[in-house]
Amino acid sequence: MRAMHIPSDHPLLLRIVDDLATHGWSQQNIFLPEALTRALAAECRKREAEGDLAPAAVGRGATQEVREGIRGDQIQWIEPGESEACDQYLAVMNSLREAINRGLFLGLEDFECHFAFYPPGAFYRQHLDRFRDDDRRTVSAIIYLNEAWLPENGGQLRMSLQGGVEHDVQPTGGCLVVFLSGDIPHEVLPANRDRLSLTGWFRRRGNEPF
Ligand code: OGA
Ligand code: MN
Repeated sequence: MRAMHIPSDHPLLLRIVDDLATHGWSQQNIFLPEALTRALAAECRKREAEGDLAPAAVGRGATQEVREGIRGDQIQWIEPGESEACDQYLAVMNSLREAINRGLFLGLEDFECHFAFYPPGAFYRQHLDRFRDDDRRTVSAIIYLNEAWLPENGGQLRMSLQGGVEHDVQPTGGCLVVFLSGDIPHEVLPANRDRLSLTGWFRRRGNEPF
């Protein structure tokens, strides 16, 4: 795979910034090159096969617990230097972080993300991505890694937008969804096949106690 550099003034990134500013969310059906999407999917599958993924927990810190009635996905956080594909994705998201900071003055400091694997039947009940006791998560970004997804496969991301409007996103490979973490309630509907994604958050600096 050829290394790529997406500058932070790339038209696709500027469109996302513009969408965020006007609607609080953005959906780009063709965001990542197919080769990178495939490489990330293979990396997620490999981690799943090797037993590296762990049931996702709800909450954070001391109150964190696994609750399959709320979410049934399995995850693994990614760190720089683990694979070429992951590093390329992190580089793209860093350009998006710079674009958002330039356009919206959000002061996003870093990006954290994890692979998420939903086995058939798994779901994630409606929630907001911002924790009550930690409001650093500011912008959520999810890239889907599934080939040839059909509506009848289920697994849609259902976003609850202003005015009670619901918007469903098919988790089709290469599609990116970005939204303001504290503003848009959303859920993952159960699917009838494996559902792979990379889910992440751009974070602001925390209000650290002195
Ligand atoms: C999450 C989440 C949505 C999706 O992990 O917080 O809402 O479509 N994921 O995978
Ligand atoms: Mn979420």
